[in-house]
Amino acid sequence: MQNQNDQPLTPGNILRTGLAFWNSKTLLTAVEFEVFTVLGDEKMTGEELGAALGIHPRGISDFFDGLVAMGFLERDGNGDQALYYNTEETGTFLDKNKETYLGGFLEMANARLYRFWGDLGEALKTGKPQNEIKKTGKPMFEVLYEDVPRLEQFMGAMRGISMGNFVAFAEKFDFSNYSSLCDIGGATGLLASQVAKRHENVACKTFDLPVVEPIARKWVAKEGLEDRVEVVSGDFFKDGLPKADVITMGMILHDWNLEDKKHLIRLAYESLPEGGAFCVIENLIDDDRRENVFGLMMSLNMLIEFGDAFDFSAADFESWCREAGFTRFEVIPLAGPCSAAIAYK
Ligand SMILES: C[S@@+](CC[C@H](N)C(=O)[O-])C[C@H]1O[C@@H](n2cnc3c(N)ncnc32)[C@H](O)[C@@H]1O
Repeated sequence: MQNQNDQPLTPGNILRTGLAFWNSKTLLTAVEFEVFTVLGDEKMTGEELGAALGIHPRGISDFFDGLVAMGFLERDGNGDQALYYNTEETGTFLDKNKETYLGGFLEMANARLYRFWGDLGEALKTGKPQNEIKKTGKPMFEVLYEDVPRLEQFMGAMRGISMGNFVAFAEKFDFSNYSSLCDIGGATGLLASQVAKRHENVACKTFDLPVVEPIARKWVAKEGLEDRVEVVSGDFFKDGLPKADVITMGMILHDWNLEDKKHLIRLAYESLPEGGAFCVIENLIDDDRRENVFGLMMSLNMLIEFGDAFDFSAADFESWCREAGFTRFEVIPLAGPCSAAIAYK
């Protein structure tokens, strides 16, 4: 059997994707058990590493060798005396003792999303969210805000997933015509901090709900940027936004339905001066909705989390922003599947 390109027809993609949860759960469990943190910069035998993590002997070689085969661990030698150690990637991004740790999002995915995605079928048939709301009746953010340690874990997770994109945005966007920025839904103040570090002429604010303010202050202080990043509290469904030359929203619009998205776009328009820039940083779906798998899966994740919330394309963003009065548009690719879509007033 041949496919349209005269290549042999195989079910490889079907099987790889159908069983991708095996690989995913193996990596997520390794993060949960802190395999990469326990290894740090050391090399250990399977027996030593298994004992340190409390793993039953039956699981040791399958678990660690599976991680080797997937490229998440290195191994010197074969058999019982073989030594396991971190790859450059896992040693950098999945060792909790490193500043560069970004496993927070994977911890959250393992603790929450893995189970909620088990109900994808129900979400597709009902259009209803499948997260904590099913047990508590409360939307995700409300549940998070009731439990500060959990909120801090979520904010840490957001930092990990957003870092590369915010650094790329701070480096690629042309700030030369602007002297102020306000990041809306700024969480730990990460975006404002990355811009403040690179652009001395830009006065930066981070805006989020009052419950997030102490968390943002802590992170801004950790970066030594108390004098450069102002932490402002408010609710974007009750208050206006602070005025600034550049208004940014990182992974905010995708959390809401169309009516709320348009409300946020109108607020941004009102806060900007003529020539000001409204920048959203999102996993923009390609306009034909054929290629950005991550953006499309993120949109299904918004169904799981919120029901009527969804991700969108640059063309969608442009049409909503034109309605609000914006006139010029641009897309800047950031890290991986993420981009900045920019609307100029
Ligand atoms: C998905 S997180 C994005 C965090 C950050 N911008 C990033 O991309 O890493 C959404 C943020 O919106 C904030 N948020 C939710 N509802 C809000 C509201 N009504 N007013 C202000 N901020 C809100 C949350 O507290 C949270 O920090």
